[in-house]
Amino acid sequence: MSNESLANLMTETRRFAPPAEVAAGANVTAAAYEAAAEDRLGYWAEQARRLSWEREPTETLDWSNPPFAKWFADGKLNVAYNCVDRHVEAGNGDRVAIHFEGEPGDSRAITYAELQREVSQAANALGELGVATGDRVAIYMPMIPEAVVAMLACARIGAPHSVVFGAFSADALATRIEDADARVVITADGGYRRGAPSALKPAVDEALTRPGAANVRNVLVVRRTGQDIPWTSGRDVWWHEAVGRQSEEHTPEAFDAEHPLFILYTSGTTGKPKGILHTTGGYLTQVAYTHHAVFDLKPETDVYWCTADIGWVTGHSYIVYGPLANGATEVLYEGTPNTPHNGRWWEIVEKYGVTLLYTAPTAIRTCMKWGDDIPARFDLSSLRILGSVGEPINPEAWVWYRKHIGGDRTPVVDTWWQTETGAMMISPLPGVTLAKPGSAQTPLPGISATVVDDDGNEVANGSGGYLTLTEPWPSMLRTIWGDDQRFLDTYWSRFEGRYFAGDGAKKDEDGDIWLLGRVDDVMLVSGHNISTTEVESALVSHPRIAEAAVVGATDPQTTQAICAFVILRGGAPQEEGLVEELRAHVSKELGPIAKPKRILAVEELPKTRSGKIMRRLLRDVAENRELGDVTTLTDPAVMDLIQSKLPSAPSED
Ligand code: WT7
Repeated sequence: MSNESLANLMTETRRFAPPAEVAAGANVTAAAYEAAAEDRLGYWAEQARRLSWEREPTETLDWSNPPFAKWFADGKLNVAYNCVDRHVEAGNGDRVAIHFEGEPGDSRAITYAELQREVSQAANALGELGVATGDRVAIYMPMIPEAVVAMLACARIGAPHSVVFGAFSADALATRIEDADARVVITADGGYRRGAPSALKPAVDEALTRPGAANVRNVLVVRRTGQDIPWTSGRDVWWHEAVGRQSEEHTPEAFDAEHPLFILYTSGTTGKPKGILHTTGGYLTQVAYTHHAVFDLKPETDVYWCTADIGWVTGHSYIVYGPLANGATEVLYEGTPNTPHNGRWWEIVEKYGVTLLYTAPTAIRTCMKWGDDIPARFDLSSLRILGSVGEPINPEAWVWYRKHIGGDRTPVVDTWWQTETGAMMISPLPGVTLAKPGSAQTPLPGISATVVDDDGNEVANGSGGYLTLTEPWPSMLRTIWGDDQRFLDTYWSRFEGRYFAGDGAKKDEDGDIWLLGRVDDVMLVSGHNISTTEVESALVSHPRIAEAAVVGATDPQTTQAICAFVILRGGAPQEEGLVEELRAHVSKELGPIAKPKRILAVEELPKTRSGKIMRRLLRDVAENRELGDVTTLTDPAVMDLIQSKLPSAPSED
């Protein structure tokens, strides 16, 4: 990243100190940074003691064959025991683990004691279906409690799961089943989305017609919607029958700390999906620790809610493993934020008295677009800490989130991490950090990260470059499933001895880290590197803009030209002169070089279900190419809408 463009970019100067109550009672204080800096491995060994080990580890890190790490290698533990049974044994069996809220309004409270019984039954059922330790199980489910039970049952018997996001196509499911060589698929007839039952089972049937899926012996089906579904007798089994008839007792076996826990395929990239492999002891240590530290969880009184889907790593680490390892009470919501009305989320916060909320910038911007009056109708005073994850959060959205959801009172923690890192890596601590809207700020205690230039040299404060992780961490991916070479090439070859995250970043004058999006999304305009994130952030700081997506399109004069796709606030019609005003606004915020050449108002932006804008598709539009693969889009019809607008695209030329 060139420094000329960076000089103009740091315009956000608002600061927010931690509230006195949070600072006074914080689980983790500033002393943690010092302790971890003094003895990083000792610090992680101490965090591993949050877990119940059948055999306590005596080794912390084995880094003798980098980048293939082993953490706590001589320890043994069972993940499901840690997430469920030990809380019951500690006398907390009556504590609610999950408040389930179905989209149609049905609800169910599941205590830790009930969860223990269901997970045990499911583990027994998997055993009966012949699933052995080490066998892979694919999970393709809506957001219902059985999804969590299924994951924990797999963990309990040491069968790595591969959760495939419920809105992925039969093709995407088939590829993932084949790559992991899954033997059993757990699914449901369907789930509720946008006010209607939406079928899942037919996609499984279709996926299983592919030759690569021939090793699947059984499909375990939860009845959620009751809709009619095709049935293959002998292969398909109802959950309520096969699980329901099992004993409620199951003795968890302890596995090696490096036993595989799950495979999760990363989305959004082209080519064969990468099966990210996570293992047991280090992963559970870091998700439990970060959930405790960053959300300041008080398990007796907090009600935590992460709005992610379990098909995404956020759902694995911060719906299932982190919160449950910590004995939290959490909300699990099946549906969309606007069913049956735009205030559904805030109604849920009020209903359950949610204290800790974790969501994504895309959702926050959508709520901003719907209007301040919607959250204002609900009592959100229970909220104590708000979290953000998934993409850089622009300062306007950060400040809106704190003000309109957090009552101008709650800390906002912007947590940077990846499917590959398994757990949070860079984030403020809510009781310690003087918060800067738009910045993830500081590596967590025990984490080493920095920003380097093209040659791998650490950049000075005030400069930008590439985000790298400089020391191994407990929840790091261990490899790409079945492809060690790709693991080495993708993450460890760009910079000697360091993990390359693929993100651009800069350090401000205080050394705090600001994420700039994927490096593939950096534009080159007349010899200047300009980050898409920063132009988008400048656009949404204009009062008329609700959302923006920016791409660089090939341009004969300037290498790339900046093209912006914007959604107008309140969906109002586009007034004369707005495009010119927006260009001038960006120019004033970031400098004339960052001024978009074309600005196109659209109704929707193409996004993956994890909220990432698919810039690749917008580049196709901007360069008048045929569209690439759209199968991971939430709503593929969005692209038709955008393309239909093109002929009248406002542009300066
Ligand atoms: C990529 C990882 C982390 C779980 C969800 C996404 C972007 C994520 C932030 C953040 C700026 C962020 C990065 C990262 N990202 N969180 N707080 N600030 N960017 O997991 O699908 O593996 O995506 O998401 O670009 O590399 P993922």
